[in-house]
Amino acid sequence: MSVAEAQTSTDSLAGGSIPEHVAIIMDGNGRWAEHRSKPRHAGHRAGVAPVRKIVEHAARRGVSYLTLFAFSSENWRRPKSEVSKLMGLFIEALQRELNSLHRNNVKLRFIGAREQLQDRLCNRIEAAEARTAANTGLTLIVAVAYGGRWDMVNAARRLAEGVAEGKLQIGEIDEALFSEALALGGVPDPDLLIRTGGERRISNFLLWNLAYAELYFCDCLWPDFSEDVFDAALEFYARRQRRYGNTQKQLGIA
Ligand code: IPE
Ligand code: IPE
Ligand code: MG
Repeated sequence: MSVAEAQTSTDSLAGGSIPEHVAIIMDGNGRWAEHRSKPRHAGHRAGVAPVRKIVEHAARRGVSYLTLFAFSSENWRRPKSEVSKLMGLFIEALQRELNSLHRNNVKLRFIGAREQLQDRLCNRIEAAEARTAANTGLTLIVAVAYGGRWDMVNAARRLAEGVAEGKLQIGEIDEALFSEALALGGVPDPDLLIRTGGERRISNFLLWNLAYAELYFCDCLWPDFSEDVFDAALEFYARRQRRYGNTQKQLGIA
């Protein structure tokens, strides 16, 4: 089923609620390759197919926003050859997948320190965003050269500029305004975070936005990620009680 068709179907999980925004830390590519005595890059290559599958599947399940962590601000520390092959893979994958994403009504958006990326990738990103800007289906957000701390510092700078230019009063700065100044400004916070690869940490992903996300960690390595694992995460999410600091009684649950 195409993403476009999927969005009109009501093929959602029985019972529980579907998260509006799912964020995924796609981890474990290197280990996947090492287990097969292949170079790490083979793992990154093998990680493209599950992205395609999961974009379609998330739309089919009724998810509105899917944010994927593809490259962190700390990943620049990796060996030059791994970084450069990864950047090449991003360019290639974007080129290869763009037509079908567009056909499927997916709106693409990138977050991260774009100025750190090579021009060739930057140009592709801008073209992909422009081409899919009017699409009304799933919003796919890809985090490249992204770090949660970078994002918050950036937001603080933006707000400080507003104050310096006299467009904003210090007293007007509140949580809503700060959220707006972040890379995901205008996008609802992730309801569910999935991390593959067995680690139970955030690794400087959406530090502000994940404040109330439900966290799902699985041992599956990213290249092995499947619709079934995604559905298991949705089942886990559907069983959570989101209290946001309230008591069960206040929420009429107890
Ligand atoms: C995630 O897989 C992809 C990126 C961080 C770019 P890793 O490359 O971190 O894989 P492991 O964790 O070493 O197995
Ligand atoms: C997090 O994975 C970043 C991405 C998946 C893009 P890492 O493999 O870089 O995280 P750490 O280093 O294990 O915390
Ligand atoms: Mg890793």
